[in-house]
Amino acid sequence: MRKKIVAGNWKMNNNRTETKNLIKSLKELKFSSHVRVMIAPALIHLAEAEEMTSGSIIEVIAQNMNSAESGAFTGEISAGMLQSIGVKKVILGHSERRTFYNESDESLKDKVSTALKNDMEFIFCFGEQLSDRKSNSHFDVIKAQLSNALFHLSSSSWSNVILAYEPVWAIGTGETASPEQAQEMHNYIRSMIAEKYHQSLADCVSILYGGSLKPSNASAIFSQPDVDGGLIGGASLKVDDFYTIVQSV
Ligand code: PGA
Repeated sequence: MRKKIVAGNWKMNNNRTETKNLIKSLKELKFSSHVRVMIAPALIHLAEAEEMTSGSIIEVIAQNMNSAESGAFTGEISAGMLQSIGVKKVILGHSERRTFYNESDESLKDKVSTALKNDMEFIFCFGEQLSDRKSNSHFDVIKAQLSNALFHLSSSSWSNVILAYEPVWAIGTGETASPEQAQEMHNYIRSMIAEKYHQSLADCVSILYGGSLKPSNASAIFSQPDVDGGLIGGASLKVDDFYTIVQSV
């Protein structure tokens, strides 16, 4: 059956000392074994983070990678580079990448292929804009994002996929989806996977919620049957907040 996951996306925050201090503090905590705990420090700190967390429950995940294996792509990093420092997981399609770096379902499909070719596990992020929700087209938007980027995959590839539903209007805004809104969408996502593949496969896919999760709202959202954990931005930078969120799942 699917596992609970809480992942902290540190985005472009924390210099080297801050990164090391945060990891040190996290390593002192006792996490339950029913949850996978992941952290996504900035790319430049990944190797050190990987070394510091080796042997602990904390898993290191990259925030992004390029779809090409190598070549003239200034400023980019490849799956092979991540693998060479022991990082075997990556976040793909975060809304900030889609918004600021023009990542599209089409380009994400290539990144998904590269991740799978390199046998990497990935958190695939997707979510609707506020205007989509207001016009009641949020289900169609989610359906398109998932089918464009993921529904060509074979059933066996899905063991590398973790989904993160992140309504764009809730990311970094302080606005959260209500537990009911989160459950409604997560249930829709799971039924779409069941329809395309099989119920048993859908039951194995972890679907995380992301968007202004914090200690005060995490339990209510995590208690929904189809919410399997969270992708945490701002609150993952504070060790106490992140720990409380992990404890809530
Ligand atoms: P937030 O970010 O928790 O700061 O809203 C979530 C995310 O970007 O994944």
